[in-house]
Amino acid sequence: MAKPNHKSSRKDQFIAKTLFGLEELLAEELRQLGAQKVLILRRAVSFDGDKELMYRANLHCRTALRILKVVYQFTARNEEELYRGIQDIFWEKHMSLNDTLSVDAVTSSEIFRHSKYAALKTKDAICDQFRRRTGKRPSVETRHPNLKINVHIFEDKVTVSLDSSGSSLHMRNYRQGDHPAPINEVLAAGMIMLTGWDGTTDFIDPMCGSGTLLAEAALITQNIAPGALRRYFGFQGWRSFNKQLWEKIKKEERENRTEPRCKIFGYDKSNLSIRHSKDNLFIREFSFIRIKQARFSELEPPVKSGIMVFNPPYGERLGKEEDIDAFYTMIGDSLKQRFAGYDAWIISSNKEALKQVGLRATNKHQLYNGALDCKFQCFSMYEGSLTPKGEEEEEE
Ligand SMILES: C[S@@+](CC[C@H](N)C(=O)[O-])C[C@H]1O[C@@H](n2cnc3c(N)ncnc32)[C@H](O)[C@@H]1O
Repeated sequence: MAKPNHKSSRKDQFIAKTLFGLEELLAEELRQLGAQKVLILRRAVSFDGDKELMYRANLHCRTALRILKVVYQFTARNEEELYRGIQDIFWEKHMSLNDTLSVDAVTSSEIFRHSKYAALKTKDAICDQFRRRTGKRPSVETRHPNLKINVHIFEDKVTVSLDSSGSSLHMRNYRQGDHPAPINEVLAAGMIMLTGWDGTTDFIDPMCGSGTLLAEAALITQNIAPGALRRYFGFQGWRSFNKQLWEKIKKEERENRTEPRCKIFGYDKSNLSIRHSKDNLFIREFSFIRIKQARFSELEPPVKSGIMVFNPPYGERLGKEEDIDAFYTMIGDSLKQRFAGYDAWIISSNKEALKQVGLRATNKHQLYNGALDCKFQCFSMYEGSLTPKGEEEEEE
């Protein structure tokens, strides 16, 4: 990488962070937005682009957690070299003395074992540069800084980035209720996208909890950007913020929205969950989403065919189900008896219980729900082609 602050016509390099298993989807989202040199990393995608693309990626990428703009990469074999490397960057280009900053560090290094210490060293190097040049130092503000700096150290390789998102992009700003086990919004969007759903067939979540999957599906079917309700992105606090360009991008997003192209149905056995779902800003606003209290064992299909995506209890997070195997057997039996014509996608960390569904998976992915290693499996319910219980696919 060229020396920092070196003026050139080259595009900037970015790292978009995501969850395990969603990297390919994110790479495709970025390509669609015009990103170049798209490269898949572990839980991240690197790409080249300009300021406009950075704004668009923050607003539009359903599977991104944050977009980091790389400003400098260097080698540091000790803390003195880390300090000097940080001081190679001319920080007044990125912030003024009156701006606030915060530093996050992630280290995977024998040399820099403590990420907090690396963050502290970085902050000192920046503040000392200001003090030397102006006699004063900028203030640290962890909650709402103007500039959020990200330092990533892998062995002796240091990457310094500016966090253009600020708070994580999974915070869509539509959630109001306080469900005990909501799924992460980025994971929910990624799950829906992994199914290949294009927003035109009817969508059902029969165990909808606070309605995250319903809300993400509602955004997709109307071509609404996931960041449309957010009030603030990190780049809005930057010296280089171009308000006019940002307003143009937001206006385009509003103009490209469509009418809903399907119906969306949510059910849950719990009245409280139904209330949480109804508190969700998007769900409350859209009349094409119907939510009702119902137990899955008694649920009648609301339409002849459609896609079902759900996140049932795993027997871990919501307290022990009385008999988790019997619960998954009930899911399988209900699907077989009443949901011919549906594709049912289920995520669960409970692999033993998943086998009790008693159907052959027609598609599967590995994902993580928080720290839980999960399977995300599709059961296609065609009439007459159901695998009898006991003949389901052997685990590889
Ligand atoms: C893990 S939570 C789903 C969380 C949801 N994806 C969200 O983002 O909020 C599982 C949900 O399944 C519901 N549930 C459990 N057993 C059910 C059943 N037999 N029929 C319908 N819903 C059920 C629970 O009430 C709970 O809200």
